[in-house]
Amino acid sequence: MDFKLSEEHLMIRDAAREFAQIELLPGVIERDNKQEFPNELVQKMADLGFMGIMVDPKYGGSGMDSISYVLIMEELSKVDASASVIVSVNNSLVCYGIEAYGTEEQKQKYLTKLASGENIGAFCLSEPEAGSDATSQKTTAIDKGDHYLLNGTKNWITNGGRADVYLVIAQTDKEKGHKGINAFIVEKGMKGFDIGPKEDKLGIRGSDTHTLQFNDVKVPKENRIGEDGFGFKFAMKTLSGGRIGIAAQALGITSGAYELALKYSKVRKAFGKEISQHQAIAFKLADMVTDIEAARMLVMKAAWDKDQGNNYDKSSAMAKLYAAETAMKHTVEAVQIHGGNGFVKEYHVERLMRDAKITQIYEGTSEIQKIVISRSVLKD
Ligand code: CAA
Repeated sequence: MDFKLSEEHLMIRDAAREFAQIELLPGVIERDNKQEFPNELVQKMADLGFMGIMVDPKYGGSGMDSISYVLIMEELSKVDASASVIVSVNNSLVCYGIEAYGTEEQKQKYLTKLASGENIGAFCLSEPEAGSDATSQKTTAIDKGDHYLLNGTKNWITNGGRADVYLVIAQTDKEKGHKGINAFIVEKGMKGFDIGPKEDKLGIRGSDTHTLQFNDVKVPKENRIGEDGFGFKFAMKTLSGGRIGIAAQALGITSGAYELALKYSKVRKAFGKEISQHQAIAFKLADMVTDIEAARMLVMKAAWDKDQGNNYDKSSAMAKLYAAETAMKHTVEAVQIHGGNGFVKEYHVERLMRDAKITQIYEGTSEIQKIVISRSVLKD
């Protein structure tokens, strides 16, 4: 077993680290304050190949592996989780969904522009009453021969206002339960497709989150992904990969908070010595670095499973569960180590703490990950 990253992986990690420090860091507080989507930075990330990391170069992607993806996600998330969620949704949910399950025509038409970053994608599963309970889709798509008529509401959609291409999950036949669900590619600008106001969020405030409305939107038949009734499995399979990205995001948030706390604890003095020399602080640092290492192992294992072609439903859920819980716990500790300064925006840790919370919620709450893990264990 080799725990060492290859030269290539180290180069990819360093490129992402440099980009995060030079490009993302300077404006991150202002973007968070203003809830500003990082348009120019998304373009720069696209230039580095970060919008289609794992996509085959023949569709305009970078052709990298999942290990590279999580390394990039961790580095971006150490500094700016709003930027990294844009990358994560575009890569693991939208690009992957189309590349793995779309037709050649869908790949040529949509994937090439998504992978190059010319277009941005959004994944639309959640509804007002179907967040965790994903089979209870109220959005309907009625088969009208050459098209489907789409009606309904989707909530909390990342990249909701800024995206060009939307993967929308909808019910086509209520009687069939989860087998009566399909996934569709919907374009911005289709008649009857309206974007609601932007959400005012606790964290990842630079990302663009909206409610979407579909009123008699005509979606061409050729925009359905996979066989009739494949939509629920499509969503589950795609989300398993998405969870690897969000696990890496949570890991990055924790690592970023830890690095700041470590640095601060070595310069801040109290009771005659650096606070890192007090066991109360040193033990917090020890707990943080141990949990970060454990989370990293789980994230890498899930990414490795995906690259090896192994089933990664359980490993991705374990990685997301552990990394997200760790992120919440230790970003709170990072604020505590900073004392009063931790409560002030310029020290960054309060933002990381706010950003950490969403990793326990999106792409399946921590409770949902436990459902996935326990079902898998009980089935074995
Ligand atoms: N791969 C393939 N098939 C799968 C699967 C997987 N990973 N998981 C489930 N299935 C199949 C099952 O085998 C079953 O099929 P059969 O009947 O043919 O055997 C079918 O799907 C139904 O499965 P379940 O009975 O397990 O379904 P369930 O209703 O009990 O729900 C759940 C399971 C795990 C709770 C699921 O609903 C779930 O994951 N919910 C959370 C949804 C979620 O993550 N939402 C996040 C929104 S997206 C987002 O946040 C993006 C963003 O903006 C950042």
